[in-house]
Amino acid sequence: METTQTVAALRGLLARRRAEGASVGLVPTMGYLHAGHQELIRRAGEECDEVVTTIFVNSLQFAAGEDLDQYPRDPAGDEAKAAGAGSTILFAPPPAEMYPNGADQVATSVSVAELAARMEGSSRPTHFAGVCTVVAKLFNLVGPCSAYFGEKDFQQLAIIRRMVEDLSFEVEVVGCPTVREADGLAMSSRNAYLTPEEREVAPVLRRALLHGAELIGEGQRSADHVRGEMAAVVEAAPLGTLDYVEVADPRSLLPVTNCDGPVRLFGAVQFGRARLIDNLGAEPPAHG
Ligand code: PAJ
Repeated sequence: METTQTVAALRGLLARRRAEGASVGLVPTMGYLHAGHQELIRRAGEECDEVVTTIFVNSLQFAAGEDLDQYPRDPAGDEAKAAGAGSTILFAPPPAEMYPNGADQVATSVSVAELAARMEGSSRPTHFAGVCTVVAKLFNLVGPCSAYFGEKDFQQLAIIRRMVEDLSFEVEVVGCPTVREADGLAMSSRNAYLTPEEREVAPVLRRALLHGAELIGEGQRSADHVRGEMAAVVEAAPLGTLDYVEVADPRSLLPVTNCDGPVRLFGAVQFGRARLIDNLGAEPPAHG
């Protein structure tokens, strides 16, 4: 694996590999890699000749008072994990390489209306514009590619798909299933913030979503009923504070009233310093 920290080196390397006919896969991350990230890298390696893993803790997507300064970092471990999963190029730029005049001097912002307004967007109003701006920049740096994103961040995945469509990026967006711990907790770099007590209770979010999916699978049509039931599961657990649960259309991400087709269930819970999110597909019984 070649490690580069500069845009010029990355572009040079990719130009040479493309000249040899290589296809390119891109896996954008903020580092502190875990098996979920590694699964994206592995999948990219299956489908592309070169796999560019990027590691950049993007300040634009953190609001003041969020965890930018505490975000966990492990450059040496990340390098080993990226290489172990099959990455051929690691791009880990310092902030000044991505934002030479400082992040506060980035005047251009890419925002995706509506899809970004609810759920994570209502809890973190500037978050998705920060994500889209850096992802657009990475797409421009890497050029035509397949780009791999996790369903763990389902709203982010939907927003990036829409950005690619609206702005005609030459990028094929590939969504990959959520990788979980043995007890169902979705893997996340932020799980490192959980105390042992919080870690024990954290799978309650997954359980709430599974409960919602089960109700829908049994024929419950009222989305409000399902929201109430999912919220009750989280609220019955100690430690966590519910941010939201939602039953939404899997494409528009708009809340639904009736569960009479495939829906996506979403939730966010604050556990001490860790804000955990998860989501799950659900379908009504085939006979209606
Ligand atoms: P980060 O949280 O590091 O996640 C990088 C990629 O890994 C995202 O596509 C995310 O959905 C995926 N991922 C995280 N946990 C996963 C899991 N348990 N299973 C499967 N995939 C998982 O998401 C970001 O970084 C940033 O917003 C980024 C897109 C890099 C822009 O800065």
